Amino acid sequence: MLNTVTTTRGLRLRERPDDLLSPHHIETVAITLPRHPQLLLRPRYISVDPYMRTRMHPMGYDYIERWEKGSQLSGWTLAEVMQSQVAGFAPGNFVVGHLPMQESVASSAKEMIKIPAAHMPLSYLHPLGMTGFTAWVGMELIGAPTPQDTVLVNAAAGAVGSLAAQLAKRRGARVIVTAGRADKREWLYQQGFEEVLDHRHPDYAKHLDKAAPSGISLHFENVGGTALQAAIETMRQGGRIVLCGLVSQYQSAQPRQGPRNMATLVAKNVAIIPFVVPHYLEHWCNFQRFMAPLVAKNQLSWRLDEITGGIDSIATALIGVLNGDNLGKRVVKMNEL
Ligand SMILES: NC(=O)c1ccc[n+]([C@@H]2O[C@H](COP(=O)([O-])OP(=O)(O)OC[C@H]3O[C@@H](n4cnc5c(N)ncnc54)[C@H](OP(=O)(O)O)[C@@H]3O)[C@@H](O)[C@H]2O)c1
Repeated sequence: MLNTVTTTRGLRLRERPDDLLSPHHIETVAITLPRHPQLLLRPRYISVDPYMRTRMHPMGYDYIERWEKGSQLSGWTLAEVMQSQVAGFAPGNFVVGHLPMQESVASSAKEMIKIPAAHMPLSYLHPLGMTGFTAWVGMELIGAPTPQDTVLVNAAAGAVGSLAAQLAKRRGARVIVTAGRADKREWLYQQGFEEVLDHRHPDYAKHLDKAAPSGISLHFENVGGTALQAAIETMRQGGRIVLCGLVSQYQSAQPRQGPRNMATLVAKNVAIIPFVVPHYLEHWCNFQRFMAPLVAKNQLSWRLDEITGGIDSIATALIGVLNGDNLGKRVVKMNEL
């Protein structure tokens, strides 16, 4: 079938930020599409995530390609098939996968996951998508708490944290959660968490110590910086820290500084277990088998933090996540063309 869309708009990194990301670091450019793509896709929602800022760092991370000046930006995307030359993919089907940030995308089918007709497409942006997978890998596969555990999850009103905290609770553990804003903490109370702290409070370390007098046995770290330092001080002897991310550090000119109290880890025999999901992709089907029924039966609470405005809103939406503006999983809704 002939592709009637020959050019589209996409995002590129105009220049690398030295510290705080600002909209001028990202530019919109015209992109020429191939005339006969296997799939012509129209992104409906594009996910914005903290790791995108780490891709802009000159040292980057080995598990994912760095974004240089001029790199095409990409992200986890829910898209609708507009045209297809591939059996099994028809116009109107929804697909999800990692795609260039563009208003229209030419793609091959092998890079995309077709969403089963019975499933809600939006759930693939969060609990059945990469943030759900991250929470599942970190909490079910690695952390695997038991009812004997006291678990701490920080940034628990965010995407990964909110799901990780619920998974720990489902396993019967005592769960302490944190969020940096009053409305986020209120939301966490409404979700049934009884112990909700503010990781941005100047006395957070004291509050945490008081909340867990016998110590934390399993900590799921999303934030880094002073929040991680406070958690380390409160760890129980032989405790474990699942290191998911360090979002408070991503905008720093020196993002790789460790916590000041590493010696406490030695003294308490605490293990740090870092992970990144690209190393766990062989577990994707097990994750879906676990999570899809929970989503279908409404046994997990999940919330999208939807920003409108299409491709022109992506830069400010991403900056907002890095500032902590979001409650739930932040996504950008694309405009009708
Ligand atoms: N290991 C992996 O494979 C993997 C995959 C995906 C994500 N991650 C990591 O998981 C973490 C959460 O990611 P997410 O996508 O779910 O994002 P998110 O939690 O939805 O959003 C980030 C949250 O971090 C908190 N935050 C931002 N800047 C902060 C700062 N300077 N100090 C303290 N808190 C700050 C904010 O919450 P408050 O307002 O509550 O502070 C903000 O809402 C990140 O560290 C991310 O890099 C890891």
